[in-house]
Amino acid sequence: MTQRTAIIGGTGVYQLPGVEVERRVVETPYGEALVFLGLGEAQDLVFLPRHGPDHTLPPHRINYRANLKALHLLGVRRVMAAFAVGSLQPDIPPRSLVALDQFLDFTHGREATFFEGGEAGLVHVEVTEPYCPALRARFLELAAAGGVAVQPQGTYVCTNGPRFESAAEVRMYAQLGGDVVGMTGLPEVVLARELRMHYAGVALSINWGAGIQGALEIEQGLEARRAAMLRIFIETLRSPPLGACPCEGAGFVMHPPAEGRP
Ligand code: HPA
Repeated sequence: MTQRTAIIGGTGVYQLPGVEVERRVVETPYGEALVFLGLGEAQDLVFLPRHGPDHTLPPHRINYRANLKALHLLGVRRVMAAFAVGSLQPDIPPRSLVALDQFLDFTHGREATFFEGGEAGLVHVEVTEPYCPALRARFLELAAAGGVAVQPQGTYVCTNGPRFESAAEVRMYAQLGGDVVGMTGLPEVVLARELRMHYAGVALSINWGAGIQGALEIEQGLEARRAAMLRIFIETLRSPPLGACPCEGAGFVMHPPAEGRP
Protein backbone atom coordinates (compact mmCIF):
# COMPACT_ATOMS: atom_id res chain seq x y z
CA MET A 1 0.00 0.00 0.00
CA THR A 2 1.17 3.55 -0.71
CA GLN A 3 2.68 5.14 2.38
CA ARG A 4 0.90 8.41 2.82
CA THR A 5 1.12 11.29 5.26
CA ALA A 6 -1.67 13.58 6.45
CA ILE A 7 -2.40 17.05 7.72
CA ILE A 8 -5.44 17.52 9.94
CA GLY A 9 -6.68 21.10 9.90
CA GLY A 10 -8.54 22.84 12.69
CA THR A 11 -10.33 26.19 12.93
CA GLY A 12 -9.04 28.51 10.20
CA VAL A 13 -7.35 25.73 8.21
CA TYR A 14 -9.69 24.59 5.44
CA GLN A 15 -7.19 24.11 2.63
CA LEU A 16 -3.48 23.74 2.05
CA PRO A 17 -1.96 26.71 0.23
CA GLY A 18 -0.41 25.66 -3.08
CA VAL A 19 -1.67 22.06 -2.93
CA GLU A 20 -4.11 20.76 -5.55
CA VAL A 21 -6.53 18.24 -4.08
CA GLU A 22 -9.33 15.89 -5.00
CA ARG A 23 -12.33 15.31 -2.70
CA ARG A 24 -12.89 11.74 -1.49
CA VAL A 25 -15.43 10.20 0.86
CA VAL A 26 -13.96 7.19 2.65
CA GLU A 27 -16.22 4.49 4.11
CA THR A 28 -15.09 3.04 7.43
CA PRO A 29 -16.70 0.72 10.00
CA TYR A 30 -17.34 3.88 12.07
CA GLY A 31 -19.01 5.93 9.35
CA GLU A 32 -17.89 8.13 6.47
CA ALA A 33 -14.98 10.53 6.49
CA LEU A 34 -14.39 13.37 4.04
CA VAL A 35 -10.78 13.85 3.00
CA PHE A 36 -8.87 15.65 0.26
CA LEU A 37 -6.21 13.68 -1.57
CA GLY A 38 -3.20 15.61 -2.81
CA LEU A 39 -2.49 15.63 -6.53
CA GLY A 40 0.74 15.86 -8.54
CA GLU A 41 3.74 16.54 -6.31
CA ALA A 42 1.47 16.17 -3.26
CA GLN A 43 0.04 12.78 -4.21
CA ASP A 44 1.26 11.18 -0.97
CA LEU A 45 -0.44 13.82 1.15
CA VAL A 46 -3.98 13.67 2.56
CA PHE A 47 -5.74 16.71 4.00
CA LEU A 48 -8.56 16.35 6.50
CA PRO A 49 -10.31 19.51 7.81
CA ARG A 50 -11.80 18.09 11.02
CA HIS A 51 -14.67 20.59 11.24
CA GLY A 52 -15.55 19.95 7.57
CA PRO A 53 -14.55 22.25 4.69
CA ASP A 54 -17.21 24.84 5.69
CA HIS A 55 -16.71 24.49 9.45
CA THR A 56 -20.12 22.96 10.12
CA LEU A 57 -19.14 20.27 12.68
CA PRO A 58 -18.89 21.28 16.34
CA PRO A 59 -16.07 19.62 18.34
CA HIS A 60 -18.29 17.06 20.11
CA ARG A 61 -19.94 15.97 16.82
CA ILE A 62 -16.73 15.28 14.90
CA ASN A 63 -16.45 11.58 14.04
CA TYR A 64 -12.88 11.19 15.25
CA ARG A 65 -12.90 7.42 14.81
CA ALA A 66 -14.07 7.57 11.19
CA ASN A 67 -11.48 10.28 10.46
CA LEU A 68 -8.54 8.39 11.90
CA LYS A 69 -9.64 5.04 10.50
CA ALA A 70 -10.06 6.60 7.04
CA LEU A 71 -6.53 7.99 7.17
CA HIS A 72 -5.24 4.59 8.26
CA LEU A 73 -7.13 2.83 5.44
CA LEU A 74 -5.55 5.27 2.97
CA GLY A 75 -2.10 4.18 4.15
CA VAL A 76 -1.36 7.22 6.31
CA ARG A 77 1.25 6.54 8.98
CA ARG A 78 2.43 10.07 9.87
CA VAL A 79 0.11 12.96 10.78
CA MET A 80 0.65 16.64 11.57
CA ALA A 81 -2.42 18.07 13.29
CA ALA A 82 -3.23 21.78 13.73
CA PHE A 83 -5.32 23.25 16.55
CA ALA A 84 -6.66 26.71 17.25
CA VAL A 85 -6.41 27.29 21.01
CA GLY A 86 -6.67 29.84 23.77
CA SER A 87 -3.60 30.78 25.84
CA LEU A 88 -3.49 29.87 29.53
CA GLN A 89 0.03 31.05 30.42
CA PRO A 90 1.56 34.55 30.26
CA ASP A 91 4.62 33.36 28.28
CA ILE A 92 2.40 31.95 25.49
CA PRO A 93 0.55 35.02 24.17
CA PRO A 94 -1.95 34.86 21.29
CA ARG A 95 -0.23 34.28 17.91
CA SER A 96 2.15 31.76 19.54
CA LEU A 97 2.74 28.40 17.93
CA VAL A 98 3.16 25.54 20.41
CA ALA A 99 4.48 22.06 19.58
CA LEU A 100 2.42 19.96 21.96
CA ASP A 101 3.93 17.26 24.15
CA GLN A 102 1.20 16.51 26.72
CA PHE A 103 -2.56 16.73 27.19
CA LEU A 104 -5.16 16.97 29.93
CA ASP A 105 -8.45 15.42 28.81
CA PHE A 106 -11.69 16.97 30.08
CA THR A 107 -13.94 15.66 27.31
CA HIS A 108 -16.90 13.38 27.93
CA GLY A 109 -19.35 11.37 25.87
CA ARG A 110 -17.04 10.99 22.87
CA GLU A 111 -16.25 7.67 21.16
CA ALA A 112 -12.70 7.50 22.45
CA THR A 113 -11.38 4.07 21.46
CA PHE A 114 -11.45 1.53 18.63
CA PHE A 115 -11.45 -1.24 21.25
CA GLU A 116 -15.01 -1.47 22.51
CA GLY A 117 -14.68 -5.05 23.81
CA GLY A 118 -16.31 -8.08 22.18
CA GLU A 119 -14.92 -8.71 18.70
CA ALA A 120 -12.81 -5.56 18.84
CA GLY A 121 -11.13 -6.63 22.08
CA LEU A 122 -10.17 -4.43 24.98
CA VAL A 123 -6.96 -2.41 24.92
CA HIS A 124 -5.42 0.02 27.38
CA VAL A 125 -3.13 2.05 25.15
CA GLU A 126 -0.03 3.70 26.59
CA VAL A 127 0.13 7.48 26.15
CA THR A 128 2.94 8.51 28.51
CA GLU A 129 4.29 10.46 25.55
CA PRO A 130 1.14 10.99 23.45
CA TYR A 131 2.57 13.13 20.63
CA CYS A 132 5.33 11.64 18.43
CA PRO A 133 8.58 13.14 19.80
CA ALA A 134 10.47 12.35 16.59
CA LEU A 135 7.99 14.21 14.36
CA ARG A 136 7.92 17.07 16.87
CA ALA A 137 11.73 17.29 16.86
CA ARG A 138 11.78 17.46 13.05
CA PHE A 139 9.05 20.11 13.02
CA LEU A 140 11.00 22.21 15.56
CA GLU A 141 14.21 21.87 13.57
CA LEU A 142 12.56 22.96 10.33
CA ALA A 143 10.68 25.81 12.05
CA ALA A 144 13.97 27.11 13.48
CA ALA A 145 15.64 26.81 10.06
CA GLY A 146 12.74 28.75 8.53
CA GLY A 147 12.90 31.49 11.17
CA VAL A 148 9.47 30.62 12.63
CA ALA A 149 9.28 30.89 16.43
CA VAL A 150 7.65 27.89 18.12
CA GLN A 151 7.29 27.01 21.81
CA PRO A 152 9.00 23.59 21.89
CA GLN A 153 6.55 21.99 24.30
CA GLY A 154 3.14 22.56 25.80
CA THR A 155 0.27 20.86 27.55
CA TYR A 156 -3.04 20.93 25.67
CA VAL A 157 -6.18 21.04 27.80
CA CYS A 158 -9.14 19.60 25.91
CA THR A 159 -12.58 20.74 26.99
CA ASN A 160 -15.80 19.35 25.57
CA GLY A 161 -17.04 22.68 24.23
CA PRO A 162 -18.65 24.00 22.20
CA ARG A 163 -18.83 26.79 24.76
CA PHE A 164 -15.74 28.64 25.88
CA GLU A 165 -14.58 28.41 29.50
CA SER A 166 -15.52 30.44 32.53
CA ALA A 167 -12.75 32.57 34.04
CA ALA A 168 -12.59 30.18 37.02
CA GLU A 169 -12.13 27.18 34.70
CA VAL A 170 -9.29 28.95 32.93
CA ARG A 171 -7.60 29.67 36.30
CA MET A 172 -8.02 26.01 37.26
CA TYR A 173 -6.64 24.66 33.97
CA ALA A 174 -3.62 26.97 34.26
CA GLN A 175 -2.97 25.81 37.83
CA LEU A 176 -3.20 22.19 36.75
CA GLY A 177 -0.35 22.74 34.32
CA GLY A 178 -2.24 23.48 31.10
CA ASP A 179 -0.56 25.80 28.60
CA VAL A 180 -3.29 26.08 25.96
CA VAL A 181 -6.95 25.13 25.79
CA GLY A 182 -8.95 23.77 22.87
CA MET A 183 -11.88 21.46 22.14
CA THR A 184 -10.71 18.98 19.51
CA GLY A 185 -7.40 17.44 20.56
CA LEU A 186 -9.03 14.45 22.22
CA PRO A 187 -9.65 11.65 21.42
CA GLU A 188 -7.88 12.29 18.09
CA VAL A 189 -4.34 11.83 19.41
CA VAL A 190 -5.26 8.67 21.34
CA LEU A 191 -7.01 7.08 18.36
CA ALA A 192 -3.91 7.76 16.28
CA ARG A 193 -1.81 5.95 18.88
CA GLU A 194 -4.25 3.02 18.92
CA LEU A 195 -3.56 2.72 15.18
CA ARG A 196 0.20 3.02 15.88
CA MET A 197 0.45 6.15 13.75
CA HIS A 198 3.03 8.89 14.31
CA TYR A 199 1.02 11.95 15.26
CA ALA A 200 2.27 15.41 16.21
CA GLY A 201 0.09 18.33 17.25
CA VAL A 202 0.82 22.03 16.85
CA ALA A 203 -1.41 24.68 18.43
CA LEU A 204 -1.84 28.24 17.23
CA SER A 205 -3.15 30.51 19.95
CA ILE A 206 -5.93 32.79 18.75
CA ASN A 207 -6.98 34.36 22.07
CA TRP A 208 -6.21 34.70 25.78
CA GLY A 209 -8.13 32.20 27.88
CA ALA A 210 -11.40 33.58 29.24
CA GLY A 211 -10.93 36.14 32.01
CA ILE A 212 -7.18 36.59 31.53
CA GLN A 213 -7.73 39.94 29.79
CA GLY A 214 -11.40 40.68 30.28
CA ALA A 215 -13.80 39.65 27.51
CA LEU A 216 -12.54 36.96 25.17
CA GLU A 217 -11.25 38.47 21.94
CA ILE A 218 -10.16 36.48 18.89
CA GLU A 219 -6.96 37.70 17.19
CA GLN A 220 -7.29 38.68 13.55
CA GLY A 221 -4.68 38.58 10.81
CA LEU A 222 -3.28 35.12 11.55
CA GLU A 223 -3.16 34.00 7.90
CA ALA A 224 0.62 34.36 7.65
CA ARG A 225 1.14 32.37 10.87
CA ARG A 226 -1.13 29.60 9.58
CA ALA A 227 0.58 29.55 6.20
CA ALA A 228 4.01 29.32 7.85
CA MET A 229 2.81 26.47 10.08
CA LEU A 230 1.37 24.55 7.12
CA ARG A 231 4.50 25.07 5.04
CA ILE A 232 6.58 23.55 7.85
CA PHE A 233 4.05 20.72 8.26
CA ILE A 234 4.58 19.79 4.60
CA GLU A 235 8.38 20.02 4.93
CA THR A 236 8.22 17.90 8.11
CA LEU A 237 6.18 15.19 6.40
CA ARG A 238 8.57 15.16 3.43
CA SER A 239 11.62 14.46 5.60
CA PRO A 240 12.34 11.50 7.87
CA PRO A 241 11.41 11.90 11.55
CA LEU A 242 14.26 12.83 13.90
CA GLY A 243 15.10 10.22 16.55
CA ALA A 244 13.29 7.37 18.24
CA CYS A 245 9.66 7.36 19.34
CA PRO A 246 7.19 5.09 21.15
CA CYS A 247 4.42 5.26 18.53
CA GLU A 248 4.69 1.96 16.65
CA GLY A 249 5.69 -0.25 19.53
CA ALA A 250 3.25 1.43 21.88
CA GLY A 251 2.79 -0.53 25.09
CA PHE A 252 -0.65 -1.98 24.63
CA VAL A 253 -2.23 -3.93 27.47
CA MET A 254 -4.78 -6.27 25.90
CA HIS A 255 -7.58 -8.40 27.34
CA PRO A 256 -7.47 -11.21 26.45
CA PRO A 257 -3.80 -11.01 25.40
CA ALA A 258 -3.56 -11.30 21.61
CA GLU A 259 -0.51 -11.43 19.38
CA GLY A 260 -0.34 -9.06 16.47
CA ARG A 261 -3.37 -6.86 17.20
CA PRO A 262 -4.64 -4.44 16.04
N1 HPA B 1 -11.06 27.77 24.67
C1 HPA B 1 -11.35 26.59 24.09
N2 HPA B 1 -11.12 26.36 22.79
C2 HPA B 1 -10.57 27.34 22.06
C3 HPA B 1 -10.24 28.58 22.61
C4 HPA B 1 -10.49 28.80 23.98
O1 HPA B 1 -10.22 29.89 24.55
N3 HPA B 1 -9.72 29.33 21.60
C5 HPA B 1 -9.73 28.54 20.49
N4 HPA B 1 -10.24 27.34 20.76
